[in-house]
Formats: sequence, structure tokens, C-alpha cells
Amino acid sequence: MLLNSLANLQSEKSSHVATMFRLILPSIALLLIICSNRHSAVVSAIGFSIVGYIATDWLIPRVGQSFVKIGLYGKDQSKPGKPVIPESVGAVSATVYLLVMFLCIPFMFYKYMVTTTPGGGIRGASIEENGDLTGNLFPHGKLSEYLSSILCLESTALLGIADDLFDLRWRHKFFLPAIGAIPLLIVYYVDFGATHVLVPTFVQPWVKMTNIDLGWMYYAYMVSMTIFCPNSINILAGINGLEVGQSIVLGILALINDALYLAMGPNASWESHRFSAVIILPFLGVSAALWKWNRWPAKVFVGDTYCYFAGMVFVVVGILGHFSKTMLLLFLPQIFNFVYSCPQLFNLVPCPRHRLPRFNDADWLLYPSRANLKDEPPKAFFKPILRVLHKLKLIDLEFEGDKIVSCTNMTLINLALVWFGPMREDKLCNLLLVLQFFIGIAAILTRHALGLLLFGHDNLWAIV
Ligand code: UD1
Ligand code: MG
Repeated sequence: MLLNSLANLQSEKSSHVATMFRLILPSIALLLIICSNRHSAVVSAIGFSIVGYIATDWLIPRVGQSFVKIGLYGKDQSKPGKPVIPESVGAVSATVYLLVMFLCIPFMFYKYMVTTTPGGGIRGASIEENGDLTGNLFPHGKLSEYLSSILCLESTALLGIADDLFDLRWRHKFFLPAIGAIPLLIVYYVDFGATHVLVPTFVQPWVKMTNIDLGWMYYAYMVSMTIFCPNSINILAGINGLEVGQSIVLGILALINDALYLAMGPNASWESHRFSAVIILPFLGVSAALWKWNRWPAKVFVGDTYCYFAGMVFVVVGILGHFSKTMLLLFLPQIFNFVYSCPQLFNLVPCPRHRLPRFNDADWLLYPSRANLKDEPPKAFFKPILRVLHKLKLIDLEFEGDKIVSCTNMTLINLALVWFGPMREDKLCNLLLVLQFFIGIAAILTRHALGLLLFGHDNLWAIV
């Protein structure tokens, strides 16, 4: 009786908090957007990111069943009875994000007005209205970067939706992100175009140059990023909340890097880092709402749409924010997961359709999942390598006599279970997210410390 009334009181209290939250949040968003109007692009972006959160959070429970009706659902493999829940709900976040980004446009750019014209479409004298010399808004030239980002993200969302609907083949979808990124790369080419990398100070006396122009190879590197980032998020997946969680952590890390430049970096870098923040903030808003529904125990799945979309957001930010190499450092866990997965991705070891951990009904814990090597043996030359990996505790092998009969699937998720033992799904997800965050922080610190050591200066401290 007492417990019941306590529980009622608590749920009443939490529903009051939720109602207050629902009322306060839109007011804050409106206030930020109105106050920031034509003064600060970043403050508008914070306002719009709250709008993105509210809209996504409102839509997901309302459209979930429509996804199920048209066959977009999946079985939650790590729950008793494998319940069916809506799949590809990340499409809602992607759509809200794009709409929010359209709405942002009038608040982000200052006017570059033509005051007199001789007619015939000829531009005469012009002034910069609200000439925002502090750089809080963006000049009209930046609009091309902004629009090309939206174009690139739109085509990525389309690819993701097509993949969720038709389960596209690997060879068909592999190069599509690179085609979607053409507008982005062209804008980079005409607007910035830098393709050189600095030569470390201690190498300079030998090669007798301070930087090397990589030319087309730099573009090849950026194209590889457009293929790698979306796919790397998609293969570090399979437990509730991990796809969105890692994207949120990556977004926060990129924002920390931007904040460092805005607080301590040279003025010349501010515009790029403001631009990066403006792209990331609304993304964090829509992702936070998706996380609310996808975290353990998941009520929806995000689908490939979200994984590709999130990956491409970081490509856009890395390329147009001019910190693509630092961005790749933030992807260290994803790079590790990809390299570690290669034997299975390239079929040296059999790769089951799903490599997510095995759920044990009895204790609700996740155990490493295994590839059956008895029926489908690995390539002969790879067997000794498997034994070495086993010795190094990088995989777990099962033997019958001297014969290998199974190995744990090669994903970072399974490796965490091999190292730390069976775990509940939410604990495992939190562990991987904390790992991602601290590796990212260490990467940012190392990158700037190494910049000083290797090049004698770092573009953050600007000490030449
Ligand atoms: C990638 C991985 C695959 C992994 C899958 C999980 C590679 C090469 N592919 O494949 O090993 O199993 O992601 O997303 O590494 N699911 C859950 N719980 C979750 C998330 C997903 O049970 O928290 C299951 C559901 O059945 C869902 C399905 O995974 O329907 C989605 O898989 P999908 O995104 O289509 O797999 P891939 O991206 O092809
Ligand atoms: Mg997937």
C-alpha cells in the first residue's frame, strides 16, 4: 500500500517534470532564436538544435508503427523472445535535421546587398548589410559550403533509406557516398583548395621543403573518408544505443575541438570552426532525441540511414571545417574496429550475417558471439595468425583436440566482452561510449601536443 502510493507519487512527480520540460524547452529555443537573430550563428544553431530535439522526439513515437506496417522492423536479438520493433527510424532524425538546416539559413548569413545597378543583370556598387566584422554570422560565400553540405547529406540519407528498404549489396553501395560528396569536394576545391601537408621540422633539412603538395592524392584521401566514416559507424553496431551514442560522443568531441579553436586559436580559424559547430549542433539535437528511443531497452532501431547520415555529417564537418585529419583521429575506435574486422570483411575467416554479441536468456548478459570454423574453415594461411591473435588475447578460439572449431567474431564489441567478461547490454554500450570519449580527448590533446613537437608550432596555439 505504502509502496504503491510512493510509486504513484514518484510517477506523478516525473510526469510534472516532463510537462515542465515540454513547456520550458520550446520557450528556450524560441528565445535563443529570436535573441540571436542576425547576431550569432552559433546561438541560433543551439536554438534550432532544441527545435530538432523537440520535433524528433515528438515524431518518433507517432510514426514508429507506420514503419512496422510497411515492413521496416527488426528483431531485437538481445532480449528474451526477440521482440519486433520499428527499424530505420534514423530516417526521422535525418529528415528533421535537413528541415531544421533549411530553417537555419535566414539566421546564419548576412546580407551582401547591391545598392545600384546599371541594369541588364549587372551588379553595381554593393554594401555588406549588417557587415558582421566579428564574424558571428557568415558571409554569403559560406552559403555555397552550407548548401553543398545539405546536398551531400541529402544524398547520403537517400542512400541509407534505399539500403534499409532493399538491403543493397556491398559492391553497389560502396562508391555511392563518394558520388554524393562531389558537391562538397568541388566547393572545397574552388573555395579553399589546400592540398599540402606540413613536413615535420626534423625531416625538413633532408627533404629541403616545409610542406608537400599531395595534389589529387589529398582528394583521394577525402573521398576515402566519405566511404570510410559512414560504413565504420554501421559496422560498430548491434547493441542498443551504440550507433547513436558513438555519433553523439563524436559530435561532442568535434565541438570540444571547435571550442578550443574559438577560445584560443587564431582569428583566421574562427569562421571554419563556427561553421563546424553550426553543422554539428542541430545534429546533436536530433540525435539526442533518437538516443532517447534507441537506448537500452530500445523501442526503435536507427537503421543504416542514420549510420550513413551520421558518418557523412563528420565528413562534411572535417572537410569544410578544415580539420579532416583531426576528425580521423576521433574515429580511432572505428578505425580499430574496421582493421580488426578485416579478416572477416575480406572472408579470410567466415563472416556471419550478424556479428552482434550472443544474448543469454538465463542471466540477461551478453557473451561474445562466435564464427563457426568447423563447417566453414578459415583460409589455411590464416590459421597460424588466428593462433597468435588468440595468444595475444585479441580473440578467443575454441578447440577440438588441436583443431580450431570456432573463434569470437572480430568486432570491438566482442573484444570488450572477451577482455572484461559477460556484461548487460546497457553496461557494454556505456563502456564503449566512455572509451570512445576518452580516446577522443587523448587524441585531441596528443594532436596539439604533437603539432608543437613535430612542426615547431601548432595551429591552435599559433606559436610560430
Ligand atoms: C552490421 C554488422 C553486423 C551487425 C549489424 C547490427 C558487419 C559487417 N555488419 O550489419 O555484424 O550484426 O550491423 O546492426 O559488421 N540489432 C539488434 N540490436 C541493436 C541493433 C541491431 O538486435 O541494438 C539487430 C536487429 O535485428 C536489426 C539488425 O541488427 O534488425 C540491423 O542490422 P543491419 O543494420 O541491417 O546490419 P548491417 O548494417 O548490414
Ligand atoms: Mg546497420
